[in-house]
Amino acid sequence: MAIKTKALFPPVRSFLYIEEMKVHDNHPAKDPQVLSLHRLCFPTDSEARLVEQLHLDGDASLSLAATVSETLIGHVLFSQMKAPFRALALAPVAVTPEYRCRGIAAKLIETGIHKATKEGWQGVFVLGDPNYYGRFGFKRELARGFKCRFQSDYLMALALGSDTLPVSDGNIEYASAFSLF
Ligand SMILES: CC(C)(COP(=O)(O)OP(=O)(O)OC[C@H]1O[C@@H](n2cnc3c(N)ncnc32)[C@H](O)[C@@H]1OP(=O)(O)O)[C@@H](O)C(=O)NCCC(=O)NCCS
Repeated sequence: MAIKTKALFPPVRSFLYIEEMKVHDNHPAKDPQVLSLHRLCFPTDSEARLVEQLHLDGDASLSLAATVSETLIGHVLFSQMKAPFRALALAPVAVTPEYRCRGIAAKLIETGIHKATKEGWQGVFVLGDPNYYGRFGFKRELARGFKCRFQSDYLMALALGSDTLPVSDGNIEYASAFSLF
């Protein structure tokens, strides 16, 4: 299903907006274009292999692609985790260099969060820059009580459909494809 959207960019940065950017949900994560996009955006092919493996393992729960005129310009994946509640991991997200800083990743992430909430997921974990992911409501405090091999100051959580997660501590585990890292 393709969701048509006009991405309006922050006026301070740019008055530009991309006409007819579409966000396609349930886009196949194994799509060769998606894998090429991750190879282009990251220094190694680890993220492309991660995306492919998550798909092969059936752990790619939400896969969203952004296109302009049928050309893929961004992709985000949410994968299911082992957790004391229905939780997803957000990773990876990538936007092709010429379309960066125009809100494309933000649109993909917001669309994913909205869809995950509608589907009854209760929380999302992400590993990343708190300055960026804080914009979407991810909080370090919400993740602090959870034991995980990626536990660090960069692990954050977002509660969906509520201010808090169903529980505040326990074990969480990223999908097995993350053992690549
Ligand atoms: C990170 C990425 C997806 C952002 O895409 P985007 O469409 O440009 O993002 P948005 O337009 O929504 O947001 C842009 C903001 O993100 C910031 N940003 C870019 N890369 C970032 C990073 N790795 N960590 C933290 N913030 C980052 C930009 O500085 C900008 O900040 P500003 O709004 O204060 O100016 C894109 O830069 C990318 O593909 N990078 C390579 C892959 C990567 O590092 N992915 C993230 C880890 S999974």
